[in-house]
Amino acid sequence: MSLNITPVTKGEIVHFRNPPHAFYEAIGGEEGMRALMYHFYDLIYESDIAHFFPQDEAEFDEIKVKNSQFFIQICGGPKVYEDEAQGMDLNEYMIRVHDDFSITEKSRIEWLGTMRDALRAKASHVDPELVETFWEYLETFSKLTVNSFSDGDTYYAAYTQAKEDR
Ligand code: HEM
Repeated sequence: MSLNITPVTKGEIVHFRNPPHAFYEAIGGEEGMRALMYHFYDLIYESDIAHFFPQDEAEFDEIKVKNSQFFIQICGGPKVYEDEAQGMDLNEYMIRVHDDFSITEKSRIEWLGTMRDALRAKASHVDPELVETFWEYLETFSKLTVNSFSDGDTYYAAYTQAKEDR
Protein backbone atom coordinates (compact mmCIF):
# COMPACT_ATOMS: atom_id res chain seq x y z
CA MET A 1 0.00 0.00 0.00
CA SER A 2 1.65 3.23 -1.07
CA LEU A 3 -1.22 5.60 -0.13
CA ASN A 4 0.46 8.71 -1.52
CA ILE A 5 -0.57 12.32 -1.05
CA THR A 6 -0.42 14.81 -3.94
CA PRO A 7 -0.62 18.58 -3.37
CA VAL A 8 -3.74 20.70 -3.82
CA THR A 9 -3.80 23.65 -6.25
CA LYS A 10 -6.17 26.52 -5.55
CA GLY A 11 -9.22 26.50 -7.81
CA GLU A 12 -8.31 23.29 -9.64
CA ILE A 13 -10.91 20.88 -11.05
CA VAL A 14 -10.77 17.74 -8.93
CA HIS A 15 -11.56 14.42 -10.57
CA PHE A 16 -12.54 11.63 -8.22
CA ARG A 17 -14.45 8.36 -8.04
CA ASN A 18 -16.67 7.37 -5.15
CA PRO A 19 -15.22 4.37 -3.30
CA PRO A 20 -16.30 0.94 -4.53
CA HIS A 21 -18.94 -1.19 -2.83
CA ALA A 22 -16.34 -3.98 -2.81
CA PHE A 23 -14.31 -1.98 -0.26
CA TYR A 24 -17.39 -1.67 1.95
CA GLU A 25 -17.97 -5.40 1.80
CA ALA A 26 -14.33 -6.26 2.37
CA ILE A 27 -13.97 -3.97 5.41
CA GLY A 28 -16.90 -5.82 6.97
CA GLY A 29 -20.03 -3.85 6.00
CA GLU A 30 -21.58 -1.41 8.46
CA GLU A 31 -19.80 -2.88 11.46
CA GLY A 32 -16.38 -2.89 9.82
CA MET A 33 -16.78 0.67 8.53
CA ARG A 34 -17.82 1.85 11.98
CA ALA A 35 -14.75 0.18 13.54
CA LEU A 36 -12.48 1.92 11.00
CA MET A 37 -14.05 5.35 11.45
CA TYR A 38 -14.28 5.20 15.25
CA HIS A 39 -10.61 4.29 15.34
CA PHE A 40 -9.86 7.15 12.94
CA TYR A 41 -11.58 9.63 15.26
CA ASP A 42 -9.77 8.21 18.30
CA LEU A 43 -6.52 8.97 16.45
CA ILE A 44 -7.81 12.43 15.40
CA TYR A 45 -8.27 13.20 19.08
CA GLU A 46 -4.50 12.66 19.53
CA SER A 47 -3.51 14.51 16.35
CA ASP A 48 -2.45 18.07 15.47
CA ILE A 49 -5.97 18.78 14.15
CA ALA A 50 -7.84 17.73 17.32
CA HIS A 51 -8.72 21.39 17.99
CA PHE A 52 -10.98 21.46 14.90
CA PHE A 53 -13.31 18.95 16.52
CA PRO A 54 -15.71 19.19 19.48
CA GLN A 55 -13.97 18.78 22.82
CA ASP A 56 -17.24 17.70 24.43
CA GLU A 57 -17.39 13.90 24.43
CA ALA A 58 -21.07 13.58 23.52
CA GLU A 59 -20.68 16.01 20.60
CA PHE A 60 -17.54 14.22 19.45
CA ASP A 61 -19.43 10.90 19.56
CA GLU A 62 -22.13 12.40 17.35
CA ILE A 63 -19.50 13.32 14.73
CA LYS A 64 -18.18 9.73 14.87
CA VAL A 65 -21.67 8.37 14.19
CA LYS A 66 -22.41 10.77 11.32
CA ASN A 67 -19.01 10.30 9.77
CA SER A 68 -19.46 6.51 9.78
CA GLN A 69 -22.93 6.87 8.24
CA PHE A 70 -21.51 9.06 5.48
CA PHE A 71 -18.82 6.54 4.57
CA ILE A 72 -21.30 3.65 4.67
CA GLN A 73 -23.51 5.43 2.14
CA ILE A 74 -20.77 6.86 -0.11
CA CYS A 75 -19.46 3.30 -0.57
CA GLY A 76 -22.86 2.20 -1.83
CA GLY A 77 -24.06 0.73 1.47
CA PRO A 78 -27.47 1.50 3.03
CA LYS A 79 -28.61 5.11 2.70
CA VAL A 80 -28.07 5.96 6.36
CA TYR A 81 -26.74 9.49 5.75
CA GLU A 82 -29.56 10.53 3.41
CA ASP A 83 -31.50 12.67 5.95
CA GLU A 84 -28.36 14.49 7.03
CA ALA A 85 -27.58 15.58 3.46
CA GLN A 86 -31.13 16.98 3.09
CA GLY A 87 -31.55 15.56 -0.39
CA MET A 88 -28.32 17.09 -1.66
CA ASP A 89 -25.68 15.02 -3.44
CA LEU A 90 -23.49 13.65 -0.63
CA ASN A 91 -20.30 15.09 -2.06
CA GLU A 92 -21.85 18.52 -2.55
CA TYR A 93 -23.01 18.47 1.05
CA MET A 94 -19.50 17.49 2.20
CA ILE A 95 -17.94 20.52 0.52
CA ARG A 96 -20.46 22.73 2.34
CA VAL A 97 -19.88 21.08 5.73
CA HIS A 98 -16.18 21.86 5.50
CA ASP A 99 -16.72 25.50 4.48
CA ASP A 100 -17.42 26.21 8.15
CA PHE A 101 -13.80 25.45 9.05
CA SER A 102 -10.51 27.07 7.97
CA ILE A 103 -8.77 24.07 6.43
CA THR A 104 -5.17 24.39 5.21
CA GLU A 105 -3.11 21.96 3.14
CA LYS A 106 -1.19 21.12 6.33
CA SER A 107 -4.44 20.13 8.10
CA ARG A 108 -5.49 18.06 5.07
CA ILE A 109 -2.17 16.21 5.17
CA GLU A 110 -2.61 15.55 8.91
CA TRP A 111 -6.19 14.34 8.28
CA LEU A 112 -5.04 12.01 5.50
CA GLY A 113 -2.06 10.77 7.52
CA THR A 114 -4.41 9.94 10.39
CA MET A 115 -6.72 8.08 8.02
CA ARG A 116 -3.73 6.18 6.62
CA ASP A 117 -2.82 5.05 10.15
CA ALA A 118 -6.45 3.99 10.77
CA LEU A 119 -6.49 2.00 7.51
CA ARG A 120 -3.22 0.28 8.40
CA ALA A 121 -4.73 -0.72 11.76
CA LYS A 122 -8.24 -1.68 10.69
CA ALA A 123 -8.05 -2.67 7.02
CA SER A 124 -5.07 -5.02 7.07
CA HIS A 125 -7.39 -7.89 6.06
CA VAL A 126 -8.63 -6.00 2.98
CA ASP A 127 -7.17 -6.52 -0.52
CA PRO A 128 -4.55 -3.71 -0.86
CA GLU A 129 -5.97 -2.75 -4.27
CA LEU A 130 -9.33 -2.02 -2.68
CA VAL A 131 -7.69 0.01 0.08
CA GLU A 132 -5.84 1.96 -2.63
CA THR A 133 -9.15 2.73 -4.42
CA PHE A 134 -10.75 3.90 -1.18
CA TRP A 135 -7.64 6.03 -0.53
CA GLU A 136 -7.82 7.60 -3.99
CA TYR A 137 -11.29 8.93 -3.17
CA LEU A 138 -10.04 10.45 0.09
CA GLU A 139 -6.84 11.83 -1.40
CA THR A 140 -8.59 13.52 -4.32
CA PHE A 141 -11.85 14.62 -2.74
CA SER A 142 -10.11 16.09 0.33
CA LYS A 143 -8.57 18.74 -1.98
CA LEU A 144 -12.03 20.31 -2.18
CA THR A 145 -12.11 20.81 1.60
CA VAL A 146 -8.99 23.01 1.63
CA ASN A 147 -10.00 26.67 1.74
CA SER A 148 -7.09 28.53 3.38
CA PHE A 149 -3.95 28.80 1.26
CA SER A 150 -0.32 29.56 2.11
CA ASP A 151 -0.42 32.82 0.10
CA GLY A 152 -2.96 34.05 2.65
CA ASP A 153 -5.90 33.61 0.30
CA THR A 154 -9.20 32.08 1.31
CA TYR A 155 -10.87 30.19 -1.51
CA TYR A 156 -13.94 27.98 -1.14
CA ALA A 157 -14.22 25.22 -3.73
CA ALA A 158 -17.50 25.22 -5.64
CA TYR A 159 -19.28 21.96 -6.33
CA THR A 160 -18.75 22.64 -10.06
CA GLN A 161 -15.04 21.96 -9.46
CA ALA A 162 -15.87 18.42 -8.31
CA LYS A 163 -15.90 16.04 -11.26
CA GLU A 164 -17.10 12.61 -10.37
CA ASP A 165 -15.71 10.08 -12.87
CA ARG A 166 -17.80 6.95 -13.22
C1 HEM B 1 -12.29 13.09 1.73
C2 HEM B 1 -12.28 14.08 2.59
C3 HEM B 1 -13.23 14.21 3.75
C4 HEM B 1 -14.44 13.61 3.98
C5 HEM B 1 -15.18 12.62 3.09
C6 HEM B 1 -14.92 14.10 5.26
C7 HEM B 1 -16.09 13.72 5.86
C8 HEM B 1 -16.67 14.30 6.96
C9 HEM B 1 -17.95 13.97 7.53
C10 HEM B 1 -18.88 12.90 6.98
C11 HEM B 1 -18.18 14.79 8.57
C12 HEM B 1 -19.42 14.80 9.49
C13 HEM B 1 -20.45 15.76 8.92
C14 HEM B 1 -21.74 15.78 9.74
O1 HEM B 1 -21.78 16.46 10.78
O2 HEM B 1 -22.72 15.14 9.32
C15 HEM B 1 -17.02 15.66 8.67
C16 HEM B 1 -16.87 16.66 9.60
C17 HEM B 1 -15.74 17.37 9.75
N1 HEM B 1 -14.56 17.25 9.05
FE1 HEM B 1 -14.29 16.14 7.42
N2 HEM B 1 -14.02 14.98 5.78
C18 HEM B 1 -12.98 15.08 4.89
C19 HEM B 1 -11.84 15.85 5.03
C20 HEM B 1 -11.57 16.65 6.09
C21 HEM B 1 -10.34 17.35 6.27
C22 HEM B 1 -9.13 17.34 5.31
C23 HEM B 1 -10.45 18.04 7.43
C24 HEM B 1 -9.36 18.89 7.97
C25 HEM B 1 -9.29 19.40 9.14
C26 HEM B 1 -11.78 17.77 7.99
C27 HEM B 1 -12.35 18.30 9.12
C28 HEM B 1 -13.64 18.14 9.55
C29 HEM B 1 -14.26 18.89 10.63
C30 HEM B 1 -13.59 19.97 11.44
C31 HEM B 1 -15.57 18.41 10.76
C32 HEM B 1 -16.70 18.90 11.65
C33 HEM B 1 -16.64 18.65 13.08
C34 HEM B 1 -17.81 19.38 13.73
O3 HEM B 1 -18.94 19.40 13.19
O4 HEM B 1 -17.58 19.97 14.77
N3 HEM B 1 -12.42 16.90 7.15
N4 HEM B 1 -16.12 15.33 7.69
